[in-house]
Amino acid sequence: MHKNSNTISEKPIDLHHFASNGKSGNEKYLHRQRKFESNARSYPRRIPIAIKEAQDIYVTDVEGNQYIDCLSGAGSLALGHNHPCIHEAIQKCIDTKLPLLTLDITTPIKDKFVETLFGILPKGFRENAKVQFCSPCGADAIEAAIKLTKIATGRSSVFAFSGSYHGMTNGALSLTANTKVKDQALNLMKDVFFMPFPYSYRCPFGVGGVEAEKISLHYIENLLSDSHSGVLKPAAFILEAVQGEGGTIVASPYWLQGIRRITKKYDIPLIVDEVQAGIGRTGDMFAFEEAGITPDVIVISKAIGGSLPLSLIVYRDHLDKWTPGSHAGTFRGNQMAMATGTAVLNYITKHQLVQNSKKKGIHMLKIFNEFKALYPFIGDVRGRGLMLAIEIVDTDKKTSHLGSYPTSPKLASEIQKRCFDKGLIIETGGRESSVLRLLPPLTLTDEQAKDILFILDEVFKSINKN
Ligand SMILES: Cc1ncc(COP(=O)(O)O)c(C=O)c1O
Repeated sequence: MHKNSNTISEKPIDLHHFASNGKSGNEKYLHRQRKFESNARSYPRRIPIAIKEAQDIYVTDVEGNQYIDCLSGAGSLALGHNHPCIHEAIQKCIDTKLPLLTLDITTPIKDKFVETLFGILPKGFRENAKVQFCSPCGADAIEAAIKLTKIATGRSSVFAFSGSYHGMTNGALSLTANTKVKDQALNLMKDVFFMPFPYSYRCPFGVGGVEAEKISLHYIENLLSDSHSGVLKPAAFILEAVQGEGGTIVASPYWLQGIRRITKKYDIPLIVDEVQAGIGRTGDMFAFEEAGITPDVIVISKAIGGSLPLSLIVYRDHLDKWTPGSHAGTFRGNQMAMATGTAVLNYITKHQLVQNSKKKGIHMLKIFNEFKALYPFIGDVRGRGLMLAIEIVDTDKKTSHLGSYPTSPKLASEIQKRCFDKGLIIETGGRESSVLRLLPPLTLTDEQAKDILFILDEVFKSINKN
């Protein structure tokens, strides 16, 4: 008889036995992680630790080393790790025997969350807004936004922007600009047209500044007005007001206002992806608010769940043309995340953390500018609130005619490593991963900011000496 590999008599794989190969501490866990987890894993390659515990901005690994965490779960942990108000909300859920998953059936906890959520939406939007809960990652909310606008407009294409990041599911990846990742996933959604996003340091038009923004707007409007542009009117525009993974590239109010004017004129829904920039990170509750514009669809995830998975879209009710069941997902009823979501929103409002994000961001950026004057390998510094970036460049190469040097992914990675060795966790992103990205919690104190800046300065000094 052919032996069935699932028979009980067969010895199961002994995961415990594969223990550590004599390794201990972080390496014991990393060794096992390498053995069992997918090749697609990413952060552990640059942050090679096993985390034992975490509190506020600090994480401690299994060897007892402490780090300042400026990654914050890729910008999700608005209050840092394990904030007491989050624990309290979780405890309350357990004590009250709340059902933990309800699909989209409502509960008092969900009702409270929706009320709190609508309370933070811009005036003039919230009065006629609808919410759709999504299966709980940002990418699924992006899928929902695209589906919603396609159904509402009866159109099929989407305008996205160079430098964008919207997630890794098929539709979201189609709207994402990073060609290295797209190259491996063929047959993505076809009807996506990428428009130039103003990026002053590496201007797609080779002019930089306001001039580039004007050209970008002119180009986009011309595509829509020219009967021979070859491009059909899209179901939506989708953009990040501050691009995150693309390298913390900040759109100006002037450009955002221009995009809003064009989308209104041509009756095209504007989707703003606030998955990373939203909920106070940029010094406004939503990043688009600085420009005084209001989108038609806002995509929200990460921080909104108060450390637990939650994602949703809110949109103007005239778009609410899809039919029952048009978007679903088993885990869209995560009650505990709604409880922690309410807690995080209330805490942010009560303790004026949006203002703290703005204030601390201004200070950090001022010091970043001082670094830039001191260290030639810093090509550009930018950001808003506590979404900050330092672009590392290769000064051995020639500048563009605008004076910007080529990227230096190797040096950026070396700086990230040296920061890590000194107890500071930062991320890299942007073109060729040459941008150092910092996303500390909105609770950041003066003392913590000082420690972060001190370590960065130490590392930059050590690089300068080489
Ligand atoms: C702006 C933006 N949109 C969408 C996503 C996708 O979210 P998720 O990773 O939860 O699917 C991300 C994730 O980093 C993001 O930064």
